[in-house]
Amino acid sequence: MKSLSVTPWLLAATALALPGIAVSQGGARSVWDGAYSQAQADRGAAAYAQHCAACHGDALGGSDSAPPLSGGTFLGNWEGQSAGALFTRIRTTMPLDNPGSLGGATVADIEAMILSSNGFPAGQADLPPDPSLSNGIAITQAKPAR
Ligand code: HEC
Repeated sequence: MKSLSVTPWLLAATALALPGIAVSQGGARSVWDGAYSQAQADRGAAAYAQHCAACHGDALGGSDSAPPLSGGTFLGNWEGQSAGALFTRIRTTMPLDNPGSLGGATVADIEAMILSSNGFPAGQADLPPDPSLSNGIAITQAKPAR
C-alpha cells in the first residue's frame, strides 16, 4: 500500500480534537507520542482474547493460520502508514471469519493493545474510534529524533 498523505487541515483538526497530547518536533505525530491510554489497552486485551487470539495467538505471535501482530515483520508491513490505516484494516477485514462485526470502539481498544504490545508508549487519551482522527498518527518502528 502506498503511504497516506495528510492534508494540513486534518492535522489541525486532529490537534484541536486532542488537546494536551505531546507533539513531536515539526508537528507530526507518531505512535511514539502516546497514541492510546493504558486503560484502553487493558480493555483491548480482553477483546483481543475474545476475537483475535484464536488465529493470531495469545501473545500476538501468530499461528499456522494467521501472521504475527507484533515484531519486526508486522511493523515492517505498517512502516510509514498510519494508526488510522491500521484501524480501517482491522475494522473492515477482521476477524477474518466475521469481518466488520466489531464496533469502532472495540477496534480502537484492540489497536491500543497491539500498539502497547509492540512497545509504543501509552499516553493520556484513548486512540479515537474514528480513523479520520488517527490518520495523522504515523507508525514508525524507530523512535523519531526530538
Ligand atoms: C479466523 C482467523 C482470524 C481471526 C479470528 C483474526 N484474524 Fe487477522 N488475519 C488472519 C489472516 C489469515 C491474516 C492474513 C491474511 C489476510 O490479511 O487476510 C490476517 C491479517 C491480519 C492483519 C494484517 C497483518 C499485517 O502484517 O499486515 C491484521 C492487522 C489483523 N489480521 C488483525 C486482526 C485482529 C485485530 C483480529 C481480532 C479483531 C483478527 N485479526 C482476527 C486471520 C484472522
